Amino acid sequence: MEFIYFLGRFHVLALHIPIGIIVAVLILEILIRKEKYKSLESAAGFLWIATAASAVLTVVLGYMHFSEGGFEGPSGYQHRNYGTAVAIITAVVAMLRASKFANAYRPVFLPAAVLLFVLVSMTGHYGGNLTHGATYLVEYAPQPIRAMAGLSPRRPPITDLAEADPFLDIVAPMLNSRCESCHNSDKRQGELDITTFAALMRGGETGSVISPGRPEVSELLRRISLPDSDEAFMPAEGKTPLTERQIEIIRWWVTIGAPSETRLGDVADALTGESRALLNAEFGL
Ligand code: HEC
Repeated sequence: MEFIYFLGRFHVLALHIPIGIIVAVLILEILIRKEKYKSLESAAGFLWIATAASAVLTVVLGYMHFSEGGFEGPSGYQHRNYGTAVAIITAVVAMLRASKFANAYRPVFLPAAVLLFVLVSMTGHYGGNLTHGATYLVEYAPQPIRAMAGLSPRRPPITDLAEADPFLDIVAPMLNSRCESCHNSDKRQGELDITTFAALMRGGETGSVISPGRPEVSELLRRISLPDSDEAFMPAEGKTPLTERQIEIIRWWVTIGAPSETRLGDVADALTGESRALLNAEFGL
């Protein structure tokens, strides 16, 4: 099984090959309709075969990668379905184009290339959601565009600690930048989604990961405090880790009861001299 996973990860490398060739095929199919470029006809036939071979290989690797698990969200299924359609259509068209009936099917080649271009774009879109989280592209977009993607306005920077929301303004931005790519509603590695307070508190495959008031038994804190050489250390796969100070702040947040949807000024014992100093340093206040 491990060997399948090993091969499967080459999916993210291999997939760029059919994308590149499909663009070339589309351009060629348009050009060879002009007398001047007629001589490129045989190149188009060859490129269709190259597209089909690389698309089928990419999809086979994709199924291997999918079998690792953690891709079961809606984007995972859409990505798989569109990608599979691309491989099947390219294989059929490449065979027709290479067969002795090629002339009879000539009118379908250009529309097929256009359709494939659209399907590849959709596949890439859902694949992007899987690797970066669905909101990655529009994170820094102007608010009207964010709103179209269903995002609420970006929180203004903290100016007064007492007014800050302990989760939304302090902890969430840290988790979003370091953990969201693997723990979102589409890609829930370890069955954990950290993108909202409710999802975070639901926990992952081993149960809750935050025990309010009890940092010593909170799985999330344990994972981020391990030596980075430990297999269970988070973020996984050598992704940029949280800083020592950010880990201290998350520990402080769990210790004061993991509050959310409130003002820090209203949380008893939240802002001691020490925690104030920590937060001031982190947020440059
Ligand atoms: C590159 C992908 C990746 C990133 C980034 C990542 N994780 Fe994970 N995480 C995983 C995988 C895979 C698992 C499941 C395997 C395991 O439990 O180690 C997991 C599991 C977990 C679990 C255990 C869930 C459970 O209930 O078993 C916690 C807690 C966790 N991650 C927290 C974090 C935090 C906090 C961050 C950000 C600092 C983070 N992860 C970033 C991939 C990632």
